[in-house]
Amino acid sequence: MSANGLAGGDGTRCVRGGVPQGEPVGAPLHRGPVLTSTFHLGRPEEADPGADFYARADNPTWREYESAVGVLDGGPCTVFPSGMAAIAAVLRGFTAPGRGVLLPSDGYYVARALADEDLAPLGIDVRYCATAGDWPAAIAAGDPPGLVLLETPSNPGLEVCDVRAIAAAAHEAGALLAVDNTTATPLGQRPLELGADLVVASDTKALAGHGDLLLGHVSAADPVHAERLRAARTRDGAIPGPMETWLALRGLGTLDLRLARQAENARALAVALREHPAVRDVRWPGLADDPAHVLARGQMRRWNGVLRFTLPDVHAVSAWLRATTMVDSTTSFGGLRTAADRRARWGDAVPDGLVRLSCGCEDTDDLVADVLGALDAIG
Ligand SMILES: Cc1ncc(COP(=O)(O)O)c(C=O)c1O
Repeated sequence: MSANGLAGGDGTRCVRGGVPQGEPVGAPLHRGPVLTSTFHLGRPEEADPGADFYARADNPTWREYESAVGVLDGGPCTVFPSGMAAIAAVLRGFTAPGRGVLLPSDGYYVARALADEDLAPLGIDVRYCATAGDWPAAIAAGDPPGLVLLETPSNPGLEVCDVRAIAAAAHEAGALLAVDNTTATPLGQRPLELGADLVVASDTKALAGHGDLLLGHVSAADPVHAERLRAARTRDGAIPGPMETWLALRGLGTLDLRLARQAENARALAVALREHPAVRDVRWPGLADDPAHVLARGQMRRWNGVLRFTLPDVHAVSAWLRATTMVDSTTSFGGLRTAADRRARWGDAVPDGLVRLSCGCEDTDDLVADVLGALDAIG
């Protein structure tokens, strides 16, 4: 039984989460997105309408989605129009001059850009630590931060850091801990249970899972923090569309199934790629001898489909991508189709030939044959 009373395992909670119970006869099994800006109000003399009144403040479709994701994360969830909108809400809402931020030097590059270009000019201290670095030491060095943001496993390096230990160090210093859980998904890792105060994610990726929308969310251990985020969302007006939210809720229903196939494909490909002479530095935390495996196993519930490897150079990556028939050259991850992204093109400080591979839901044998066949073809 989960915290809010929804019983069952991952599949049951993905399928049943957010679905209203005890509907009257004749009610549709699936409600569509609630597409309205305005709601009928009650008596005009009442200050508090006591129900939905304007869709910048709330929407029934958001509530269904937030209820489903909140159950998986283990805390009240607030949906945002993209992963970056969720990260921006946390970075802006929980930092200030004298309450700076410590974030991963090897995490998602737009989060770093936001900290450097929007927070630092306001006099907010912005500091960095590598995901596999010494976070307690970084927290203790200099003025205590107000917020520590982790990304584990990191994107694209797939390094892992110890959420429990860093939560203890952050709290000791009086800081909040937020974890970007995009790669793991709430089925793969529950940062709030590991001691984090906030979990943020780009639901654009595996959670919605079909590569057809952008969405994000923040879940909070403390309902007061959730309320702050909601109020800020209403004031800022950067709100998710009901249609995207509803599509993501529909996608969430199959997250358990998709993740299982994606992880199976990642395992098979990681094992096969390690044997190929053109390939170096295969990393997937699910491999028993991956440098991050022991730490990851101690805090993750299950694996996912994102791995990385390195080919000799950009030309090899290009030739390999031309030779495959089942790998799209795209920059998102967590979708149904297998996707490769050469991360140096975006300015990540990684080797030229480093590829982040997001395994899709194709049949494992087909995918392995295609990826290896294309590698053989380039010589
Ligand atoms: C780890 C991580 N966090 C956040 C984001 C931002 O999400 P979005 O593109 O939905 O704004 C991304 C996008 O790639 C990401 O990879």
